[in-house]
Amino acid sequence: MKNSKIGYAVVGLGIGMAHADAAYEYDKCELVAVCDINKDRLKKASEKYAGVKCYESFDELLLDKEVDILSICLPSGMHADYSVKALEAGKHVLVEKPVDITVEAAMKIDECARRTGLKAGVIHQNRNNALMKPIKDAIDSGRLGKLVLGTFAVKWHREQHYYEGWHGTWDMDGGGSLMNQAVHTVDLMQWLMGDVESVSSKMGIYGHDIETEDLTTSVVSFKNGACATFVSTTCAYPGISTEICLYGTGGSIEADADKLKLWKLTDSWDIDEEEAEMLEKYGEGNLSAEKDDPDIVCGHKSMIIDIVDAVIENREPQISIKEACKSVRIVNAVYESARTGKTVTL
Ligand SMILES: NC(=O)c1ccc[n+]([C@@H]2O[C@H](COP(=O)([O-])OP(=O)(O)OC[C@H]3O[C@@H](n4cnc5c(N)ncnc54)[C@H](O)[C@@H]3O)[C@@H](O)[C@H]2O)c1
Repeated sequence: MKNSKIGYAVVGLGIGMAHADAAYEYDKCELVAVCDINKDRLKKASEKYAGVKCYESFDELLLDKEVDILSICLPSGMHADYSVKALEAGKHVLVEKPVDITVEAAMKIDECARRTGLKAGVIHQNRNNALMKPIKDAIDSGRLGKLVLGTFAVKWHREQHYYEGWHGTWDMDGGGSLMNQAVHTVDLMQWLMGDVESVSSKMGIYGHDIETEDLTTSVVSFKNGACATFVSTTCAYPGISTEICLYGTGGSIEADADKLKLWKLTDSWDIDEEEAEMLEKYGEGNLSAEKDDPDIVCGHKSMIIDIVDAVIENREPQISIKEACKSVRIVNAVYESARTGKTVTL
């Protein structure tokens, strides 16, 4: 605690800067420390956040009694080990996606959080995209009817130099386009459509010199009888879209990342008028929705606020370790199916 506020710290200052920005701004916590072995990144953080303590050593950071919550923003294969160390040192943790690269490793965080009585949450900020609430409501209320089909395509692009470090390695990234870029959309797919029963997949390396994959294709079957196709790639120059399309017996919804593209529900008072209203509010994505409605908070900010509030209110964070394991399990099933040529049942 610092000045009777929750003390927040971040290790890993790539995407970790988004965590630090959010903690620096949120009035119920104070950004007390940042940690990175990269001196340049530490220097930038020290210039940006007045009074923040800078650590090059993770072990020294863990000794800092002002730190209550620690964001773990390290390469994915380090998440479980570092989260467990932080929990053992008495810190609550917020872990970047994917929670780790295997379910077995990730569940060590869950076991440790239960044993220590501390909070452990995971970042999947796309669930808080403004348009996800109406989409989830349309499914849960039955307006979309019985889910029939989902089509998901993460058509992104990465230059070769992106893969010079830990990205695209099995031991630190746990995969490529699917485990790193598309895991957000895998999480949304299972959250929106339900538990996955099986996957039948292919993968390959098409446009980069990497160890893992830069393209996957899957046919997904769900326990509720629906099916989906899922494509991920980092070869789609210049980076095109994140298609999220849902079709049920009650209508169709299509989106590209946080932007709504189509909303046709057959039980509407006026199908076209309702769609026009929805496109007006959600068609331009998070920024316009946040501007119009001060109750909407998106992105990393929403998840940093959630973990701080979870600690203050002594409740579970929005996304638990177990919940975040679902997408990691699906991703690894895709890889197993692609390697063996067989359908993998989860
Ligand atoms: N939620 C999102 O939208 C999102 C976006 C990008 C990355 N991520 C995830 O965040 C994690 C980090 O990704 P990134 O793109 O920021 O990677 P990055 O390589 O840019 O940053 C990782 C940082 O960790 C530091 N580091 C490595 N070992 C360390 C150690 N022992 N002690 C202290 N610092 C250490 C590195 O110096 C580096 O600055 C990954 O798991 C990635 O999947 C999530």
